[in-house]
Amino acid sequence: MKGVVLAGGTGSRLYPLTRVTNKHLLPVGRYPMIYHPLLRLRRAGVTDICLVTSPEHMGDVVNLLGSGSRLGIDLTYRVQDEPGGIAQALGLCESFVGEGPFVVVLGDNILGEDIAGEVDAFRAQAADTDGARVLLKNVHDPERYGVPEFDGDRIVRVIEKPSHPPSTYSVIGIYFYTPSVFDYIRTLTPSQRGELEISDVSNRYAEQGTLSHGVLTSWWGDAGTFEGLEEANRLARDLVYEELPGVADE
Ligand code: G1P
Repeated sequence: MKGVVLAGGTGSRLYPLTRVTNKHLLPVGRYPMIYHPLLRLRRAGVTDICLVTSPEHMGDVVNLLGSGSRLGIDLTYRVQDEPGGIAQALGLCESFVGEGPFVVVLGDNILGEDIAGEVDAFRAQAADTDGARVLLKNVHDPERYGVPEFDGDRIVRVIEKPSHPPSTYSVIGIYFYTPSVFDYIRTLTPSQRGELEISDVSNRYAEQGTLSHGVLTSWWGDAGTFEGLEEANRLARDLVYEELPGVADE
């Protein structure tokens, strides 16, 4: 399965930390933030990865990651010229994705567990139906995220940052799709904050009854705000990717 990592945007919620560098290069635990999603993908056997970032920061990102070979991955890059939202950034990866199912990870999502089981679950689902899959985490502050509304065990709708959350789950920044998602993205219109929203994409599948979900059991952090960055650093403090060379070997 191929992977997409979305690392665009201005990082305005983290100004002035992000005035001269990309949010995804800030430290989380012992690593630059972007290492975390990339290494979780690699551990799930996803090594062919398209990374989307902004023109301002492409140079820094490539300086850090290069071809990806040091992390054991093969990187393709796409530039998001203007910050137009997560779904717009994803739309840039259509030719990279080609025909098969794929997984998308937001570059500021930090996970305490591997996702190989979820990759397998979606591979099986995609062999059968043209649907999508999201991952959920039970949280104490759902209003900060996309929140699923359930009918029994089925997600009927995802509401982006609701003031009255219909459940205590967050849709975390890991999504599984088939290439039909690119047709859906073409039909989206910008939200009130002027972006093409990934929750609107989820809703297309929810309406059709083809949106499945998994639930994370370990910790999860969205490092896109000061609060989230601090929390992610606390959670990832002792996280070591043994497969990477140590500082002395670099
Ligand atoms: C984005 C999505 C939101 C999701 C979150 C997970 O929000 O829009 O649905 O729950 O990522 O990290 P953002 O952090 O960009 O505001």
